[in-house]
Amino acid sequence: MNVRTAGEIKLMEQAGRLAANALVHTGKFVKAGITTDELDQIANDYILSHGGISACIGYQGYPKAICTSVNEVICHGLPGAQVLKDGDIINIDVTAIKNGFHGDTSSMFFVGEVTDSAKKLCECAFEAMHRGIKAIKAGGTTGDIGFAVEKYVTRKGLYVVREIGGHGIGKGFHEDPFIPSFGKKGVGPFLKKWGTITVEPMVNETSAPIDEIEIPDSDITIIVTSDGRLSAQYEHTVLITDNGAEILTLPS
Ligand code: MF3
Ligand code: CO
Ligand code: CO
Repeated sequence: MNVRTAGEIKLMEQAGRLAANALVHTGKFVKAGITTDELDQIANDYILSHGGISACIGYQGYPKAICTSVNEVICHGLPGAQVLKDGDIINIDVTAIKNGFHGDTSSMFFVGEVTDSAKKLCECAFEAMHRGIKAIKAGGTTGDIGFAVEKYVTRKGLYVVREIGGHGIGKGFHEDPFIPSFGKKGVGPFLKKWGTITVEPMVNETSAPIDEIEIPDSDITIIVTSDGRLSAQYEHTVLITDNGAEILTLPS
């Protein structure tokens, strides 16, 4: 796992703030009738007009600026002609590069009124992310995070996604180590002081396996629940400190 200098941390803070502000800005436009392509353009314009670029465009052939994952889409939802409708839940995932460093954050948004079970799923993913972040300290391991996330989600009767998770982040988009949403305390790579990672649990209503949908000319696949049930996710980029973690993707 890479560690950052004080100067690099300042740059990571700026990249994180930009991603967070772009996410909040884009989320304000979520309503029935808007297309996910329109949300993509709104996010991209915001990032470009605030001194950054999207990390997603061209990443392993991915053609869009953000990911828009609606309902049964777990992650990497591809913006397009899809029109949002009342009752949908959508994850918007923004990764911006500023000063050569990445900030990566995502959040759920409701389109009009959504069902109680959809709200419960989203609340669970939100709380699971924060429990994971609270489990972080220098000298701990990635398994500490996964344990905290999995325990909370399982107790709610919901299911964590195991195949995809968080990652180291910095000059690179996806650096080591993998940050699982499952695991055992004390197991896995060590967390280092001044390391920067993402915590991004994906929580499903179902234990059904995931399915992958190809994106033409890209190595990125759209991940969905194979039975069409809902999935939710939240993501922050964080800095590992002696006694905890500082969230770098807070909006200003
Ligand atoms: N932002 C995603 C993550 O949290 C990765 C998206 S890669 C893309 O790691 F190419 F699909 F944009
Ligand atoms: Co990420
Ligand atoms: Co992300």
